[in-house]
Amino acid sequence: MAKSKVNQGHTHSHNPSHAPNSSASASSGTETSTSGKLDPAALNELENELNNREIAIIEREIKSLRLQEELDRLRPLSGLYRVVKAMATERRLDSLLDTITRETQSIVKCDRCSVFVLDHDKSELWTQVAQGLTGVRTIRIPLSGAAIVSHCARAGRIINIPDAYKDDRFDPAVDKKTGYKTRSVLCVPMRNREGGIIGVFQVLNKLTGPFTSEDEEWLEALTAVASGLIEQAQAYDEIERFVDKTLEVLAQTIDKRDPLTAGHSVRVTNYSMMIGNSMDVLGEDLDILRYSAMMHDYGKIGVPEAVLWKPGRLTPEEYATVQKHASITFDLLSNLPFTKRLQAVPFVASCHHEKLDGTGYYRGLKGEQIPFLSRIIAVADVFDALTSVRHYRNRMPIEKVAEILDAGKDNHFDAACVEAFDKLPAETVLTCMESERDRHASADIGMFSQISWRRLVELTAGSKPKRGEDNLKESFERLYNFGLPADYKPLD
Ligand SMILES: [Fe+2]
Repeated sequence: MAKSKVNQGHTHSHNPSHAPNSSASASSGTETSTSGKLDPAALNELENELNNREIAIIEREIKSLRLQEELDRLRPLSGLYRVVKAMATERRLDSLLDTITRETQSIVKCDRCSVFVLDHDKSELWTQVAQGLTGVRTIRIPLSGAAIVSHCARAGRIINIPDAYKDDRFDPAVDKKTGYKTRSVLCVPMRNREGGIIGVFQVLNKLTGPFTSEDEEWLEALTAVASGLIEQAQAYDEIERFVDKTLEVLAQTIDKRDPLTAGHSVRVTNYSMMIGNSMDVLGEDLDILRYSAMMHDYGKIGVPEAVLWKPGRLTPEEYATVQKHASITFDLLSNLPFTKRLQAVPFVASCHHEKLDGTGYYRGLKGEQIPFLSRIIAVADVFDALTSVRHYRNRMPIEKVAEILDAGKDNHFDAACVEAFDKLPAETVLTCMESERDRHASADIGMFSQISWRRLVELTAGSKPKRGEDNLKESFERLYNFGLPADYKPLD
C-alpha cells in the first residue's frame, strides 16, 4: 500500500502543480475533517517528502559506491604517494628499502617483495630480509647466477612467471633451502638516470592468481620512483660512511699517539651507543651521540705529549694543561661544517668531563645544563679509562670500577646512565672491552651471555654463583688479567 503511494508520488512529483507549497493544497484542508480521510493534497505532500527522502538515500548510496570504487582505484596511488613521501623523511637506504617493500606488497597484493640492489664492485645483487625481532639479514646473489633476479638484471627486462615450477629459469633449490613455496614471480629491473641497471624489484606469490599486466605497470611505475630514491640514498649512505670513517680516523690519530690509549675513542663510542640504545635514545640523537663520543678527546691533539704521557702524578699546572683538551675539542669541532641535525656535536663532545654537581670542567656546568648525551659519554669514558691499562696502573678490578661509578651517582654521573650501564649484558660489555686486545677472546666471552654486567661484578665480588653461573668468576678473571704483569701496581 505504502509502496504504491510512493510510486504514485513519483509520477506526481514531475508535475509542478503538485509542489508541496502550491496554493491548491494549502486551501483544501477542510475535507479531512468531514470524511475522516487524509486530504489528498496533504497526501501528496507526504508522498513528495517521502520521495525526496528516498532520492536522497539513493543518491547517498550511489555516492558512497562511487567513493569506494574511487578508493579502490586510488589505493595503489596512495601507496606510491607514501613511497614518495618516504623520500622526504627517509634518507637512509635500509629504512627506505623497508618502506618500499612494505608498500609494494600492499599495492600489488602479493606475499613477498624484495628489492635487490646491484653491488657493482662484487657483481652481486643483495637484499635485506627481516628476521623476527633481531633485525635484518643480508642475502647476496651472484649477478652471473641462475636466479631469476640475476636473469632480470642481466637482460634488463621484466620477467613475469605465472607458475614457477613450470619454468626453466626457476631454481627450486632456493625453496628447498628456505622452506618457501614459490608460485608466481614478477621481476622488474631498476635503472638509474643513465639507463644503467642498479637493481631488481621482485614480488612473489600474488594472492589471487598470476601477476597481471596491470601489476607489471604498477611495479614499473614504482620502480621508476624507487630507483631515483635508492640512488639518492646510496649516495647519502656513501657520504655518511665517509664522514663516519673520517671522524674515526681523526679520533684514532689521537689515540694512536700512545699505544696505551689506542682504541679508547672507539670503545667509548661503543659503550655510549650501548647505553644510549638501552635508554631509548633514538634517531638523530643517536647519531649525535656516536659522533660526539668518537670525537670527545680530539682536543688532546693540543696537549703536549710530555704531559699526556707523564708516568706519575701531574703538577697542578700540568693537570690544567690536560684539562684544556675539552675546550680544544669544542673549538676544533666547531670549525667542522656539521649538518643542522648534527650541530650539537661540538657542545655534547666537549661536556664529557662535566659533573652533575658542577665540579667538572671546562665550563663547570651543573645537572640539567649538561646535555644528557654528554652524561652518557661521561660514564662510558670513565669506565673505559678504569678498565684499561694506564702508564701508572694496571686494569682496575671491576668491583672497584663499579664502586667508583656507584659513588659518582648524582654528584659526578647521572645515576640513570650508570644503572643503564649496569643492566647491559656482560657479554656485550666484554666484547667491547676486549676488542683491542692481542688475541681473540670471543670464544670465552660467549659464556657471559646470560648475565648482566652488574651480576658479573657481584660474582667477582664474591656473590654465591646461582645455577649456570659456575666458573664465571674464574673465567672472567683469566680473561681480564690475560697478559698483564701481576706486579703492575697502581702508583696511587
Ligand atoms: Fe677526555
